[in-house]
Amino acid sequence: MKISVYTHYEEMSTAAADQVVAQLAAKPASLLCFPSGETPTAMLKQLVRYAEEGKIDFSACYFIGLDEWLGMDESMEGSCKHYMYTHFFNLVAIRPEQIVFFDALTTDVDQECARVNDFISGHNGLDLMIVGIGMNGHLGLNEPGTDFDAYAHRSSLDQVTVNVGQKYFKNDTVLKEGITLGLRHLKEAKKAVLIASGTKKAPILAAALQGEVTIDVPASILQDIPQALILLDKAAASALKESPHIQGVK
Ligand code: PGA
Repeated sequence: MKISVYTHYEEMSTAAADQVVAQLAAKPASLLCFPSGETPTAMLKQLVRYAEEGKIDFSACYFIGLDEWLGMDESMEGSCKHYMYTHFFNLVAIRPEQIVFFDALTTDVDQECARVNDFISGHNGLDLMIVGIGMNGHLGLNEPGTDFDAYAHRSSLDQVTVNVGQKYFKNDTVLKEGITLGLRHLKEAKKAVLIASGTKKAPILAAALQGEVTIDVPASILQDIPQALILLDKAAASALKESPHIQGVK
């Protein structure tokens, strides 16, 4: 695990977008996974800008959705799929067949997880998996207590996720379960990147990156992933102790 700290959110986001540029330059047909949420918005904006400037070519790659609120219609504002389309897929030249998402309305969750797992293994695993971190240390919807060795699965949402998740919706929304890629996907990704911003994430980042490696803090798995890169702004890094793993601004 390597940690890079940038002065502001915008610089951290550009560094994340640059990881995607480098990945597609090295392997145009890469399988990529991006998170939804507040954190990736500037990274996606930068990727759209890079595409307009001709600095990146998405024509040969594939995208897989990280997670979804189980039972939610994908057209609902606040769903992960809706976010990815409005912030990214609708703004760049990507064909529908390049995109794979969980069907959150499925009547057979196990089969849906198997379909997504098979798609990933059929592509020889994820080349670049970018995730955010929740206030409870979740990655995707891998909630506290999730087995580090799980692939895609149904998850029962933690109360923190239920409460924090309301920020994505205009009205109070019932959130109970999710469907998500697993921590094993992150472990096996050729490159795993975590992005985080702001002082509100500082305590959970300190616990995840410098505390005990435990399933109670899913993001602590990153400590055991040698190919993991953690991109933080200064505010998010503010509770970290000095360490040889950390590069960038103090
Ligand atoms: P956020 O979500 O980017 O909206 O903070 C991160 C997450 O819960 O994974």
